[in-house]
Amino acid sequence: MNIQTKIATDKAALQRAAREEAYAMPLKDFHPGAPRLFQDDTLWPYFERLRKEEPVHYCTNARIEPYWSVTKYNDIMHVDTNAAIFSSDVKHGGIAIRDVPEGYDWPSFIAMDEPHHAPQRKTVSPMFTPTHLDELAVLIRQRVRKVLDGLPRNETFNFVERVSIELTTQMLATLFDFPWDERRKLTRWSDVSTALPKSGVVSSPEERRREMDECRAYFEKLWNERVNAEPRNDLLSMMAHNDATRYMDGDTLMGNIILLIVGGNDTTRNTMTGSVLALNENPEQFDKLRANPKLIDSMVPEVIRWQTPLAHMRRTALEDTELGGKTIRKGDRAVMWYVSGNRDEEVIETPNDFIIDRARPRTHLSFGFGIHRCVGMRLAELQLRIVWEEMLGRFDKIEVVGEPKRVYSSFIKGYESLPVRLS
Ligand code: HEM
Repeated sequence: MNIQTKIATDKAALQRAAREEAYAMPLKDFHPGAPRLFQDDTLWPYFERLRKEEPVHYCTNARIEPYWSVTKYNDIMHVDTNAAIFSSDVKHGGIAIRDVPEGYDWPSFIAMDEPHHAPQRKTVSPMFTPTHLDELAVLIRQRVRKVLDGLPRNETFNFVERVSIELTTQMLATLFDFPWDERRKLTRWSDVSTALPKSGVVSSPEERRREMDECRAYFEKLWNERVNAEPRNDLLSMMAHNDATRYMDGDTLMGNIILLIVGGNDTTRNTMTGSVLALNENPEQFDKLRANPKLIDSMVPEVIRWQTPLAHMRRTALEDTELGGKTIRKGDRAVMWYVSGNRDEEVIETPNDFIIDRARPRTHLSFGFGIHRCVGMRLAELQLRIVWEEMLGRFDKIEVVGEPKRVYSSFIKGYESLPVRLS
């Protein structure tokens, strides 16, 4: 049996077992946010059943606090676009299924409601204007070429490490104007800040604290330099020279830095890796893309839907409210499962299929909606487009030669490794 056949056979058996378990288990026992389901890629039948049988579901049997799961596309839109009822504020626990642990509850504009959120968001938005993105595109292409030209041929390597992490870290270093040779610190801080206790990313809470303190000290030094220098075109200078953020306290600075590091890092990184996996799992789509590279334009939003690199965002209800026939009480947690809404067959045709020339590939929830809709979405799409233009121009085959290792998290939906071979 060759490796591709073996991977496919093992995967089918695992998926069959997960389906049986998901349909045998009483709904009251469901905990769709269990990180194990995401690490094993066995989440799908649980969400399929919730969409069919109880689209707004209350989970009380997890070790984390009880939470509502919102699983259908239109219900998710409802929550995401009603920020006056569904709060993102960190003081209620923040934007992920688990409350932010004590001591890490730094304010950041993704975890703020109005009127505080909009002025801070505006300080960084000039980074993502069409004109500035055109300038960045030149730099991104040069760097992508260099990274791809340095890859080994006919030899197995980890795509996550050599391509996805490297390129997104380079991008982040550019956005922050961060010391180039130390850019891998950004990757590490991003990983540490989102790691769950059991993920193995850090060995103890003390280590996590030490690394986050190091991050804080490093950025405070850069911040002090930028505040006192002429305004420049990087994210730190943009915040340092705008009244909405110039005087923020140390905690808010740290919160916004972590937001921008994680926002710009994990998401694009995991979509890049996901695109290689999706095309390998669907070889007829890969053939279509090779025959017509213009399809990159619709393949990029399709893979962002297919991967959904942020599986959910969470809100907290500020008042009693009805959703999907259920009463959500003031103070309850509501988790918007983008990963499920993106597979909602009532809104997206054949949602489980990866189709690079879909009629409406931008119908997806991966960037969220409403006031917090991703500010970096055009940059993410640009990076992915350039990577694929350059890869198709260079390699006949980008072959996945082993199982991906997935991240232990129901928030960051991504990969630790993906073994590939180029020819
Ligand atoms: C495929 C890549 C990406 C995906 C799927 C993604 C997804 C998201 C999602 C789901 C949200 C929250 C939306 C909501 O609550 O309604 C968000 C917000 C945000 N993203 Fe992205 N993101 C990506 C890339 C980026 C990049 C490259 C950056 C740039 C640094 C970035 C920066 C941000 C920021 C700063 C916010 C907070 C916006 C606000 O609160 O107003 N993201 N993103």
